[in-house]
Amino acid sequence: MQTIRHLAELRPATGAFRAAGESIALVPTMGALHAGHLALVTEAKRLAKRVAVSIFVNPKQFGPNEDLDKYPRREAADARMLTEAGVDLLWTPGVDEMYPAGFASNISVGGVSEGLDGAARPGHFDGVATVVAKLFNQVRPDIALFGEKDFQQLAVIRRIAADLDTGIEIVGVPTQRDDDGLALSSRNAYLLPEDRVAAVALPRALGAAAKAIGDGGAFAPALTAARDALAAAGFAIDYVELVDAETLGAPDAARPMRLLAAARIGGTRLIDNIAVAVNEQG
Ligand code: PAF
Repeated sequence: MQTIRHLAELRPATGAFRAAGESIALVPTMGALHAGHLALVTEAKRLAKRVAVSIFVNPKQFGPNEDLDKYPRREAADARMLTEAGVDLLWTPGVDEMYPAGFASNISVGGVSEGLDGAARPGHFDGVATVVAKLFNQVRPDIALFGEKDFQQLAVIRRIAADLDTGIEIVGVPTQRDDDGLALSSRNAYLLPEDRVAAVALPRALGAAAKAIGDGGAFAPALTAARDALAAAGFAIDYVELVDAETLGAPDAARPMRLLAAARIGGTRLIDNIAVAVNEQG
């Protein structure tokens, strides 16, 4: 695996792949890699000849009171995992390489980025959209893969890929979960043992609400039951919302819907989401 930190070296490396007629898949990450990231790499290898992974902890997507400084950084272990997984290229620029002096641009996506995490974390999706647009221009992949765990992020990225005429195919990969159902996340590393035990209430509450709605139950009581279950487990809730799976606007039982939640336990903010479809027999 080639590890590249400077744009001047990235261009010839990806240029050599393209000159050989090889397709390129990009898996953008912020490192602290886990099995969820490896599932993206596995899918990337299936879909393209060459796989590039980026690791960049992007300061622009962290709010002033968020965890940028304590965000887990494990570059050596990450590089070993990616080598073993058969990744061709690791693109890991420093902050000065990504945002050189004078950098002054911002990509802001309307619509899908406005509610949910967009409301709870002002500026977050501008930071994500800006860095992902830069990564797309830097690597110029044919496809790019993102986890469905960050469902709203995936919708924002689909928007910029289409709106900016990138020609890049965006692939969403289903959330990877621990045996008890907790979605894998780099932030799970912050959970104290007792909070890790309680955290399972998040996928369980979403699963129960999705089933109740899928069986034909009314939306509001199912959402209230999910909020109550999370509060009883010790979560402080940012949101539990049912939305249209494509527009992230108001849900319509005749269309695919998605139930999303963000909540904090022991100071750690977790997010999760689940598909909701009303069962015709329900
Ligand atoms: O999901 C992430 O790890 C980040 O938000 C991303 C897409 C790599 C942009 O920094």
